[in-house]
Amino acid sequence: MAAILTISDLDVRYGTIPALSGLSLSVEEGSLTALLGANGAGKSTTLNTVAGLLRPTRGRVTFQDRDITGRAAHRVTRAGLALVPEGRLVVAPLTVLENLELSAFARGRKRTAALVDVVFEAIKQIHAAGVTVLLVEQNASIALPLADQAYLIHRGDIIAAGTPEELDRNPDLVARHLGLDPAIAVPELERAIGHHEPEPGGDPARPARTA
Ligand SMILES: Nc1ncnc2c1ncn2[C@@H]1O[C@H](COP(=O)(O)OP(=O)(O)OP(=O)(O)O)[C@@H](O)[C@H]1O
Ligand SMILES: [Mg+2]
Repeated sequence: MAAILTISDLDVRYGTIPALSGLSLSVEEGSLTALLGANGAGKSTTLNTVAGLLRPTRGRVTFQDRDITGRAAHRVTRAGLALVPEGRLVVAPLTVLENLELSAFARGRKRTAALVDVVFEAIKQIHAAGVTVLLVEQNASIALPLADQAYLIHRGDIIAAGTPEELDRNPDLVARHLGLDPAIAVPELERAIGHHEPEPGGDPARPARTA
C-alpha cells in the first residue's frame, strides 16, 4: 500500500524551544496509524504542523504526493486532510478519555469503560468506512488494538515503529516511554492486543498484520 501522508525530518520550535527534532513517519492509505507518546512528547505539535497550524523550521509534509509543508490550514483541509482536535466533545477522544479517567475514581470503572468504548467504536467505524486515520493517544492499550501501524514519539522524535505485534515484542519500551509502570502496563498491553505465545518451532518473525 502507498503512503498517503509522509512526514520527513521535521523540526518545529516554539520560539527557541525545540518541540520536534527530525521527526519522520508515514501513514499508509487506508490504515489506522497510531501515534503514541507521553505528555509533552510532541503529538499535538505533529498534528498541528501537518494541519498547517504550525510552520516547521525544517522538513517536509507530503499528502497524496503533494508537498503541503507550511500550507495554510484551510488549504490543507481542502486537499482532504482533516484535523480532529482535542477539546471538541464529538471528536475529542483524548479529552473525553482524560475526563473520564478522572471521574472514574468517583463513579466506578464500568461506566467509564462503556463511554470510552463508544468513542473508540466511532473511530473504528470511521476507519471501516474507508477513512485513513492517524490516531493520537497516550494509552497504548486502547490505541494498539485498533492500529495497523504505530509510532512511539519521545521528545519530538520517533523512537519505535511497527505493527502492534512488533511493538509487543518490546513492551518495556512502550511502557517506559508512556510513563507507565511496566509491571502494570505490560500485562494490560498484552491482553489488549491478544498476546500469543510463539508457536513451537514456528517462525519467530510473525508476518505483519494486514488491514
Ligand atoms: N504553545 C507552546 N509554547 C511553548 N512550548 C510548547 C507549546 N505547546 C507545546 N509546547 C512544548 O512542546 C513540546 C511538545 O508538546 P505537545 O503539546 O506537542 O506534546 P503532546 O505529546 O501533545 O502532549 P500531551 O499528551 O500533553 O497533549 C512540549 O515540551 C511542550 O511543553
Ligand atoms: Mg497533546
